[in-house]
Amino acid sequence: MRKQIVAGNWKMNNDLAQTETLITELKKQIQTSKAEVMIAPVFTNLWPSFQALRKHDIEVIAQNMHFADSGAYTGEVGPGMLLSVGIKTVILGHSERRAYFNETDEILAKKVDAALKHGMRIIFCFGEELNDRKSGNHESVVENQIKNALFHLDGKAFENIVLAYEPVWAIGTGETASPEQAQEMHAFIRKTLSGNYSDAIANSVSILYGGSVKPSNAREIFSKPDVDGGLIGGASLEAKDFFAIVNAI
Ligand code: PGA
Repeated sequence: MRKQIVAGNWKMNNDLAQTETLITELKKQIQTSKAEVMIAPVFTNLWPSFQALRKHDIEVIAQNMHFADSGAYTGEVGPGMLLSVGIKTVILGHSERRAYFNETDEILAKKVDAALKHGMRIIFCFGEELNDRKSGNHESVVENQIKNALFHLDGKAFENIVLAYEPVWAIGTGETASPEQAQEMHAFIRKTLSGNYSDAIANSVSILYGGSVKPSNAREIFSKPDVDGGLIGGASLEAKDFFAIVNAI
């Protein structure tokens, strides 16, 4: 079912003490919200975060995972390991994973399959680079990213998939896609889903926007009909800003 979601992607920020401090702040400021609220701390802080928030309406999620269950993959973490510390949702395909860790569509398709096999929910990220937008190829780039990693799935799988459109040129740059650009792309994504699956599936998937969402621009972006919430980087590291964004839904 289509839901409104605001997820904080903490990236490689916050050691244990900083994580505890930020979670304490989040607990103080949490209010009832129409949106599902999630935070994604680093791997080492997933378990303490899960424990600290288990009685609160903030889901702790992972930023990444490996596709294998276990084995000789030094430095990696598998889906069953995440589940064993209470983590049921994972972000996959973030542009930083694609750019700095060589995650291809093929690898991402395997990660998607592994997460679904384990009954996990996925926030699947994709988005074009500045050159793609400048040359007018942004829609075909996004279409290919979605098709290559997801369109081997049956329609039912989309019950456990949330999409996150994050134009690479807007991530951490202070430059946001305009609400109109976000709406246009989100509508295009729904059209692509509808063409390959059905209107019902296209309309049931939550599509988040990510890229320099701030308290000052969140309300306008979230007001667009095909934008179901946001994936928030920098602004999720301050409880006040994060909740201002959550409350903009
Ligand atoms: P940003 O990051 O909000 O700092 O631009 C968004 C993201 O990378 O998910």
